[in-house]
Amino acid sequence: MAVHVIGGPASTALAERISRELGNVPFAIPFSKRFPDGELYVRIGGRMNGEDVVLVQSSRTDEDLVQLLLLEDAIREAGAKRLVVVVPYFAYARQDRRFYPGEPVSARALTRHLELDADAVVTVDLHSALTLEGFTKPVTEASGIPAIARLLRERPVDLLVSPDKGGVDRIKRLAELLDKPWMALEKKRIDSDHVELTLPAAHAGEIEGKQVVIVDDVISTGGTIVEAAKLLRKSRARAVLAACTHGLFLRDAFERIKAVTDELFSTDTLLNPAEKASVAPDIAQILRKMVPTLE
Ligand code: R5P
Repeated sequence: MAVHVIGGPASTALAERISRELGNVPFAIPFSKRFPDGELYVRIGGRMNGEDVVLVQSSRTDEDLVQLLLLEDAIREAGAKRLVVVVPYFAYARQDRRFYPGEPVSARALTRHLELDADAVVTVDLHSALTLEGFTKPVTEASGIPAIARLLRERPVDLLVSPDKGGVDRIKRLAELLDKPWMALEKKRIDSDHVELTLPAAHAGEIEGKQVVIVDDVISTGGTIVEAAKLLRKSRARAVLAACTHGLFLRDAFERIKAVTDELFSTDTLLNPAEKASVAPDIAQILRKMVPTLE
């Protein structure tokens, strides 16, 4: 029975890499356009009767989300037997609870609709585990850390740094894979654009002369990485690299980070100028376990 990988407009290159990792299974790019009134239109080629289909589409923008829902429906219309939806970057995940009366739980609203036509969902480094609770279909969360580790094996890195305590599990996992020491900075968020970072006293003196890499799950405004890089340079690091799973790089974040780091890279969950590490092997490994025809 055939397996098809379909690369939505937000994730075409990653989808192609996944199809290669799966042994060059058929790969297709849907046609997409806007009608004069602004509505989106998509079309996939041909029938998929009884096939297993893997649709890959990050949901960074509202446009990506609508395309994702339309593609899911098109794949079902084409007769697919099983549909696994891979959403490498899952938008709206930060609103994973109701903070004030009258608000939606946005992450849950999205999971409900996204899983309607899906038999299973794969995503990468969610903002919080709460989002997973919103799914009723099988969902697997891949990690961007193995991809970052593969790239860092080619760099002379002495010390791994998480910019906050929230990243401790991730940095520990990376430290195990690379067999390197790690530490976490202390972060206080002032507002959505500003953060204050401090080096815990226990780690004073551990930075001097070291090649350090700051690792975060998301780079958004860049405020966290810029402040972390400045702090590490002030502590006399020899080189400062920055890595993340999801590189949103809002406004001038990319240029601001490049100005204070020796190298900046992200995985390929989102299209950006820093994507150097691919999560395709990790997603392919999950898909092989999920889709019997791929085994
Ligand atoms: C926070 O919990 C995340 O791990 C990131 O540190 C944060 O989203 C980065 O945002 P920004 O680039 O805007 O500082």
